[in-house]
Amino acid sequence: MGRSLPYYVRLMCRSDIEQVTDIDREAFPTMLPPVNFQRELDNPLAHYVVACEADTMPASNGIRVGERTAQYVAGFAGFWILSEEAHIVNIAVRKSCHRQGVGELLLLSLIELAIAMKASLVTLEVRASNDSARKLYGKYGFSEWGLRKRYYTDNREDAVIMTVGDIGSS
Ligand SMILES: CC(C)(COP(=O)(O)OP(=O)(O)OC[C@H]1O[C@@H](n2cnc3c(N)ncnc32)[C@H](O)[C@@H]1OP(=O)(O)O)[C@@H](O)C(=O)NCCC(=O)NCCS
Repeated sequence: MGRSLPYYVRLMCRSDIEQVTDIDREAFPTMLPPVNFQRELDNPLAHYVVACEADTMPASNGIRVGERTAQYVAGFAGFWILSEEAHIVNIAVRKSCHRQGVGELLLLSLIELAIAMKASLVTLEVRASNDSARKLYGKYGFSEWGLRKRYYTDNREDAVIMTVGDIGSS
């Protein structure tokens, strides 16, 4: 029997933007300009999901965000879909929620969404030094296809291109 996680995944909505922006800034503090998630939600090519704590219901024990009560978001992920290719642009989990399977849950949810949208291939770029993310993608069959030299503008670090095809398979 698989382990049961206290998180579930749903599509990102506007009321998540404040929390998602905080998670993005914590995970990628040197990336400038910051992602404009409002614009991403308006972009028909972009598709984002969030992982929420299963017991944070909006009307009961949700946390306060601005003037509203909201579900507690532990992480988020998104891709852009271009023809039959889903390009993962972001995946990040709050540091306080690392190593609980949230990243894995988000990645699997993105792959399921990509399958539902008839993508045949999922691809992404990851910093060469980002061992934890490379391990996560490797665990799900992504292979390293090549390098984009000095891809990241903050420190000129190389990006490793990782891709998985035949995404409908086990
Ligand atoms: C990468 C990231 C999303 C992983 O999220 P997470 O919820 O902590 O990961 P999970 O608990 O789901 O771990 C799944 C797998 O990822 C790998 N992994 C995750 N963190 C790891 C670490 N610190 N060291 C080694 N492997 C790690 C492992 O293969 C792990 O599987 P295992 O538990 O069977 O060993 C998270 O570290 C993060 O948000 N990092 C900052 C943002 C980032 O770098 N995003 C990727 C951009 S390309």
